[in-house]
Amino acid sequence: MKITVVGAGNVGATCADVLASREIANEIVLLDIKEGFAEGKALDIWQTAPINLYDSRTVGSTNDYGMTKDSDVVVITSGLPRKPGMSRDDLIATNAGIVKTVTENIVAHSPNAIIIVVSNPLDVMTYCAFLNAKMDSKKVFGMAGILDTARYRAFLASELNVSPKDIQAVLMGGHGDTMVPLPRYTTVSGIPVTELIEEEKLNEIIERTKFGGGEIVKLLGTSAWYAPGAAAAQMVEAIVRDQKRIFPVCAWLQGEYGMKDIYLGVPVVLGKNGIEKIIELHLNDAEKALLAESAEAVKSVMDVLDNMNANA
Ligand code: LAC
Repeated sequence: MKITVVGAGNVGATCADVLASREIANEIVLLDIKEGFAEGKALDIWQTAPINLYDSRTVGSTNDYGMTKDSDVVVITSGLPRKPGMSRDDLIATNAGIVKTVTENIVAHSPNAIIIVVSNPLDVMTYCAFLNAKMDSKKVFGMAGILDTARYRAFLASELNVSPKDIQAVLMGGHGDTMVPLPRYTTVSGIPVTELIEEEKLNEIIERTKFGGGEIVKLLGTSAWYAPGAAAAQMVEAIVRDQKRIFPVCAWLQGEYGMKDIYLGVPVVLGKNGIEKIIELHLNDAEKALLAESAEAVKSVMDVLDNMNANA
């Protein structure tokens, strides 16, 4: 299996490191536009192999897409990260141009690859990749839900003082402040979370989750990378090993949840064909309203992209 990670910044390099150290693929190409940067990061990652005892090989490339030829899965992390005070949506103008160019280059060299987008604003950059890849939407999708549910699960694990392994949760909607954590679908080893935590505390955790990315931007002056990189690698693993795992993924909706022509976070089955199924939950009215609000927020940024393309 050959995996390409485009963008050797913090998220891309972390993703490549997880892919290599967990032997998710034997051949990993890390590509970046900045001269020597991907080569340096790849070399450093490869030099962990004798220490961590694995044989997956990571190589770097300065914008030579020839090296990415015939990749099975491509993770796109390129683009600027947020600075304090910025929303993910503020990045659209710069990152849309980058994601477009990257996608065209990827598809030219790996027409059968599955594409996972990580760049922000996530839902709209996934849409941007889809428009430019001109591929089946089941093979172009975005990573956000695993990260956002990981934050939610981590906060719950700390609060309940239990293992994060035992917390299962679904979260839907866009990768932004309108994301929709779903307490009704949150359990701790099968126990509904509502039996273990006060409503007020749970609501606090839900709010903290929605702004979980911003919390880290404030602390670090740039956006997170360990959890985003690991989350993208987990999606690659589900595909490469055909695991049929159920994850919230930013997917192209064509009538599911009563929505059409929108990229939005929904639970899916992920396997060797990419998105093998979109799971439709029976949401109650309050949950539907929150999802609709989130969809509206995503749609308004998709419109910005459509207008940019129309005026290009
Ligand atoms: C975050 C960025 C990667 O949520 O969107 O941390």
